Amino acid sequence: MEFEKRILCIGAGYVGGPTMAVIADKCPQYRVELVDINEERIRRWNSEDLPIYEPGLDEIVRRARGRNLFFTTEVATAIEHSDIIFVSVNTPTKAFGQGAGQAADLQYWEKTAYQILKHSHSDKIVVEKSTLPVRTAEAMQRILHSRGTSPRFDVLSNPEFLAEGTAVENLLQPDRVLVGCMNTESGHKACDQLEAIYANWVDRSRIIRTNIWSAELSKLVANAFLAQRISAINSISALCEKTEADVDEVAHSIGLDSRIGKKFLKAGIGFGGSCFKKDILNLVYICRQHGLDEVADFWERVVEINEYQQSRFVANMISEMFNTIAGKSILVLGFAFKADTGDTRESPAAQVCRRLLEEHAQLRLCDPKALENARKELIGVQGVSFHEDPYEAAENVHAVALLTDWQCYRELDYAKVFDRMEKPAFLFDGRNLLDHRRLFEIGFNVYPVGKSPLRQL
Ligand code: UDX
Ligand code: ADP
Repeated sequence: MEFEKRILCIGAGYVGGPTMAVIADKCPQYRVELVDINEERIRRWNSEDLPIYEPGLDEIVRRARGRNLFFTTEVATAIEHSDIIFVSVNTPTKAFGQGAGQAADLQYWEKTAYQILKHSHSDKIVVEKSTLPVRTAEAMQRILHSRGTSPRFDVLSNPEFLAEGTAVENLLQPDRVLVGCMNTESGHKACDQLEAIYANWVDRSRIIRTNIWSAELSKLVANAFLAQRISAINSISALCEKTEADVDEVAHSIGLDSRIGKKFLKAGIGFGGSCFKKDILNLVYICRQHGLDEVADFWERVVEINEYQQSRFVANMISEMFNTIAGKSILVLGFAFKADTGDTRESPAAQVCRRLLEEHAQLRLCDPKALENARKELIGVQGVSFHEDPYEAAENVHAVALLTDWQCYRELDYAKVFDRMEKPAFLFDGRNLLDHRRLFEIGFNVYPVGKSPLRQL
């Protein structure tokens, strides 16, 4: 069958994988290919055991794979045969040299630009999907045209707003699709082509066109605003603990104000994931580069409050458990950075675990989807064991620390957990997920975030 368009995505990760799977599923008239340098990842995309867990993704991949969705490691051929190339490679925080710890590491992204240039023999539209510093498209355009104007490349910015765990849902029903282009005739024509892809299933009113710099910046700002809300409510949780106010009640009350809104006001051990911290630090770095130190300081505080929230949580565990947790066993419920994902990047749970291990606690770790990543992250670390069954892991532990908001942990039989534990039994709910009154009645000493503790006499 002759396909209408040949779409390629470079980088088959958490963003590229689900996005292309949905495009392929919704647009059987296009050929969609994903390429990655990681052979193991591609092998798994071609197997029954996909490299990432996302509700609903298996079904979509199974439907489209081999029909119009393909996974490969052959970068050169894939580039040569494509009309539209999405770039979805990783842009982690730079770990070395200038900007270390804040700036985006653009080495993967730059290599990709040179690869596109090397293997292109026809005009292409290149779409930035990875989150990038504002004005990166300019550098992309310059690299791509460094050998002249033929073939021609049009660079667009099309940031992805999907959240892990709801990636498929977010892709199928996005709040908006943002497309940024250069203000030239060919830039707008390229935009038309990209918008036409999404228009196969997204209402045109939700597809917005901006200038390319606004699109790049909007992605950083959206993540910074979301993270800022979490730090704002977490800062208030500390005050609630001192004043007998209840942070969930405060969040509910203020969230009913339609100007504030209800979402992203859940207090806990802070935000994690591959985007929030990285994007804020990137924003901070860009502000400083432009001499906007006050603006940079403002956003930097969002990350500092996040770290403060984790330190507070651990300090509280230590002080409530008689100022020592050395040698004590703790059942850890959850290691993923949030529910419904196996992803552990920048997980607050991981951060809390590391601090507990520094105090020489013995951790028994459970997570329904993230144990594989937890094992990789904690390889060679002493004092931690991994468990499928939370009841078995609860045997003789001194405390339970709930660190990820998995629904399955709300449904545990906590009386059964309590029976197996050492006494006094402590429970620290880092996500305010559980029924605290009921746990107290079972016999636990209960410590939520931003609420009064329930201590047994
Ligand atoms: C985020 C953005 O939501 C998404 O639009 C962007 O494309 C990528 O970054 P993601 O990191 O997958 O998505 O997860 P998100 O649901 O935003 O949660 C991030 C973190 O914040 C998690 O650790 C979560 O537990 C925490 N969180 C979220 C809170 O602590 N409280 C809240 O109220 C909401
Ligand atoms: P994200 O969450 O942004 O999707 P991931 O780390 O999950 O980030 O995915 C990025 C993917 O990009 C990785 O699988 C990585 O192997 C891939 N990648 C990085 N550089 C290249 C490259 N030059 N060519 C192909 N794939 C690449």
